[in-house]
Amino acid sequence: MIKERLEKIRQDALKRIQGGENLDKLNQVRIDFLGKKGEFSEVMKSLKELSKEDRPTIGAMINDTRKEIEAELERARHKLEKAVREQRLKSETIDVTLPSKGFDLGHAHPNQIALSEIARIFIGMGYEVVEGPEVERDYYNFEALNIPADHPAKDEQDTFYVEGDILLRTQTSGTQIHEMEKGKLPIRMISPGRVYRSDEVDATHSPCFHQVEGLLIDKDVSFSDLKGTLREFARGLFGEDTKVKFRPHHFPFTEPSAEMDVSCFKCGGKGCRFCKGEGWIEILGCGMVHPHVLEMSGIDPKEYRGFAFGIGLERIALLKYEIDDMRLLYENDIRFLRQF
Ligand code: DAH
Repeated sequence: MIKERLEKIRQDALKRIQGGENLDKLNQVRIDFLGKKGEFSEVMKSLKELSKEDRPTIGAMINDTRKEIEAELERARHKLEKAVREQRLKSETIDVTLPSKGFDLGHAHPNQIALSEIARIFIGMGYEVVEGPEVERDYYNFEALNIPADHPAKDEQDTFYVEGDILLRTQTSGTQIHEMEKGKLPIRMISPGRVYRSDEVDATHSPCFHQVEGLLIDKDVSFSDLKGTLREFARGLFGEDTKVKFRPHHFPFTEPSAEMDVSCFKCGGKGCRFCKGEGWIEILGCGMVHPHVLEMSGIDPKEYRGFAFGIGLERIALLKYEIDDMRLLYENDIRFLRQF
């Protein structure tokens, strides 16, 4: 009796193992047959009803069948797991022959390109590139540059004040003072950076733009050194045929002061739409450092002299790359930037 029952259990179990198409189903088979309340527990109970002589043989039979079913379950589980693994590997296969998707790189900004050009030329003449603070004291932005509180130049540069005498610099000229105060002479430096003025945004104005300051301090420096240096700079930037012209101007911190024009690199000086028929284009302000400025920064004007200049970086970028609206420089549209 018990033998037949065992055989029936065996065949049922094997059949269900064969039909177990996933791990959950196999697990259910294990529970139904080998679990606490499973078929084998039941047959084990019936051992009690057998005679002492029969018990060991039947007991061994039950054990063998149990082992067989356990082994079958294990085999089926292995097979299923292997299939799952293979399926996963297949779906995760990487096709190394596919072309890459490519990724977007940025692009150097026209300001940055123009600045590298400017820096390259001055570094070639032995200048150092230094940086100054954008948040500045009134003293460095105005007073030490010979612009006292009541000076009209102070109104011309509409200033953003932070607190008390702390402001956002309206010009990079304050870096001149910081460099001179270090007391290491001679000085040959350019200093690029952001400056701020409370201007409305339009095609030629922005409340934040960039200047490149220049300063040279040494013994026996004359206006002709300034002219020679800036002419070299203009030729380096706009080409060897470029002519320069110095027009008298006024800046509080230089005496004499001038603005430098370059011959129009579009028409060569004949006059065109680009230079508005003038043949000349203004590119920077400059002058001999005012003796009072030297003195205030602890330099003896009888021993040392110097010249300074200030370049509007956006102006150079707009001219050189023929961009007609300054706002384009601040939008950072990659399609625009890629053109330079
Ligand atoms: N700081 C002046 C400005 O913002 C530009 C300038 C002119 C700088 C003459 C100089 C200079 O160093 O010598 O308009």
